[in-house]
Amino acid sequence: MTCYVSNPVDEQGYVTWSEEEHAIWRDLVARQLNLVQGRACDEYLRGLELLNLPRDRVPQLPDINKILLQETGWQVVPVPALISFDRFFELLANQCFPVATFLRSREEFDYLQEPDFFHEIFGHCAMLTNPQFAHFTHIYGQLGYHANPKQRAFLARLYWFTVEFGLVKQGEELKIYGGGILSSPGETLYALDSQTPVRATFELNTVLRTPYRIDIMQPIYFMLDDISELYQLSRLDLVSEVEQATLEGLYPPLFPAKEQTT
Ligand SMILES: [Fe+2]
Repeated sequence: MTCYVSNPVDEQGYVTWSEEEHAIWRDLVARQLNLVQGRACDEYLRGLELLNLPRDRVPQLPDINKILLQETGWQVVPVPALISFDRFFELLANQCFPVATFLRSREEFDYLQEPDFFHEIFGHCAMLTNPQFAHFTHIYGQLGYHANPKQRAFLARLYWFTVEFGLVKQGEELKIYGGGILSSPGETLYALDSQTPVRATFELNTVLRTPYRIDIMQPIYFMLDDISELYQLSRLDLVSEVEQATLEGLYPPLFPAKEQTT
């Protein structure tokens, strides 16, 4: 369920954003650009440079596509506020990254559950300029497209703990590459600096079996040794890994059950 509706997109892929939406983008970018310096991984920061996103107005998808196509063959594709898993995986399998063309309201400036335009563009597109990350996402989409619902539930955790909430070691430092973190000011600080969450070395079987919640700061993050590990992952027999994880079952959650509201 969402109260947001994507803005219409014209035949050339352009959206007519309102002045208020330009202002929201400007404020979101101004705040987050400061935070990601020194906290995002090198691959992300290089991607951000390549994209050269406008700071004073909402970017347009065709401008982003020029860069993505050139770097990795990916494209961003406008979609409604929420799409089905079938459609999601089908798009990724075709190197198309779904982007809902709505922006969060001022009331939800700091946090919203739905992936809005800022999350998809500022959070994810920079990493999609990286060939190893892009390849992993492509293979992931192909696998997911052919997977059954139970397998998809396990694959969703792999995506969550990498593309959305992944950390990576760079030299002596820990950096962020997950778009869920990099589009959230609070979690950009929390993921690296807080003493509260567990930071575990990435291990595929563990990741597939670790539950998550979408509406809280993450209680656990998984750290890659290098972004190239994603490429290595894409070469594994991930279906067998999912089957094995299914047999072994989920780990107990590290978070309280979600409060019932009804
Ligand atoms: Fe996302």
